[in-house]
Amino acid sequence: MSGTPVWAQLTYLFAAVCFILALKGLSSPRHARQGNLVGAVGAVVACVIVFFYADLRHIVPIVVAVAVGTIGGFVGARRVQMTQMPQLVALFNGVGGGAAALVALLELSDAHGPGVARFTLVATAFTIVVGAVSFAGSMVTFAKLQELMTSRPVLFPGLPVVFGASLLIALALAVLTVVEPGSWPAVGGGVLLAVVGLAVGLLLVLPVGGADVPIVISLLNAFTGLTVAAGGYVLGNTVLLVGGTLVGASGTFLTKLMASAMGRSVLNILFGALKGGSTLGAGEVSDRPVRSAGPEDMAILLNYASRVIVVPGYGLAVAQAQHTLRELVDLLGERGIVVDYAIHPVAGRMPGHMNVLLAEAQVPYEQLKEMEHINGEFKQADVVLVVGANDVVNPAAKTTPGAPIYGMPILNADEAKQVIFLKRSMRPGFAGIENELLYDPRTTLLFGDAKETLGKLLSAVKAL
Ligand code: TAP
Repeated sequence: MSGTPVWAQLTYLFAAVCFILALKGLSSPRHARQGNLVGAVGAVVACVIVFFYADLRHIVPIVVAVAVGTIGGFVGARRVQMTQMPQLVALFNGVGGGAAALVALLELSDAHGPGVARFTLVATAFTIVVGAVSFAGSMVTFAKLQELMTSRPVLFPGLPVVFGASLLIALALAVLTVVEPGSWPAVGGGVLLAVVGLAVGLLLVLPVGGADVPIVISLLNAFTGLTVAAGGYVLGNTVLLVGGTLVGASGTFLTKLMASAMGRSVLNILFGALKGGSTLGAGEVSDRPVRSAGPEDMAILLNYASRVIVVPGYGLAVAQAQHTLRELVDLLGERGIVVDYAIHPVAGRMPGHMNVLLAEAQVPYEQLKEMEHINGEFKQADVVLVVGANDVVNPAAKTTPGAPIYGMPILNADEAKQVIFLKRSMRPGFAGIENELLYDPRTTLLFGDAKETLGKLLSAVKAL
């Protein structure tokens, strides 16, 4: 940043502080909105400031690109459904990684030849390869979640060998770029490096099953962060360095947290399917008998309980039934019943999915209980109301070695006196396996879209 005036460097420092404060704000639902806003301010400042001090060429295409990106991002983010958020994150993340790789490719033509610091070449090669991996991998995760392709693991004979060979080639090309910069064409060599990086990204994500895709998105997010940080080093830009490092570190933590919430290692998530075990179950629908009842019977169960625990899941988000659920819980609370929401760390399809959904319906934070805090209380619960959740209460996680969710800590709904399930059919959850709790004699099912069934349940409780 030798050519950057002091005032601009101080402004970059301001933007970096904004990013740190944004992360702090995002760590609690109470301050998440402010955190998001502070981060956005930092990003705008960091983007705008460069126009005031740098000797920019091609200003018209830059402004056009910024306008297209701004409009695309704004419209995309406004239109996206909450349940499609992981796809949006994947898309934005992939574009970030791809952009960093392109910038590094251009820089390679300048930073080529003798006299260029070795570490600059290391950072450039790293940015190209990892940015390309992140771009290709993110596009596959997007296609899987958007159902543009199968969400099952895609495997072919010899995949581990091809993957290993691509990794080795990428490494060899990167070393060549650093050690013998003058020995091969700068841009052509860089493009080859990027193409191999794209192949590594594809081969890394294709074998991952749909249920694990959100974790891979978080991992690729960490990759993009590191790519941007390395790009910041190449360009001598502090704000890219700080922002990229923050994204890399937080993405790594999030990946670790999600993997341990599912009781799996990151390596098992990435390469489990290569060892023969699918990360997604078969998804058959069983025809064993279950007990179902109407809303009036369920209302009696709820109305005469003294302790109720609600387990929200992905189906609640699909049905957009969070407001009706809050009304029902409030009504039960007014009648002296103690009701809490049990939040599983991977309920829904993204980290914090249930917290965000319920916060949108103004559910007080105090009613949201994390799994480790509420799991001991299920024994005392008269009724557990499971709304659009399945895998997060599936006892197979404890009892069936070999099940895709075996080892994942679950909410102990199976310990309650009565369980009410609101779902549309006997179809399994995202992991694609049967849930024994549905067949338990203490379980009653109310079939239908959760918004509709919760509405009927609310009216029935009101009528008592
Ligand atoms: P799931 O196990 O996917 O179960 C969702 C249930 O909702 C299904 O049984 C479905 O049954 C029901 N449903 C869907 N639409 C509905 C509607 N409109 N009305 C009523 N019910 C509806 O969800 P979960 O329990 O929240 O578990 C999350 C899964 O995602 C886990 O396997 C987890 O490992 C995986 N995952 C999550 C994350 C994060 S970070 N959250 C990351 C990676 C993986 P019907 O079709 O019969 O209605």
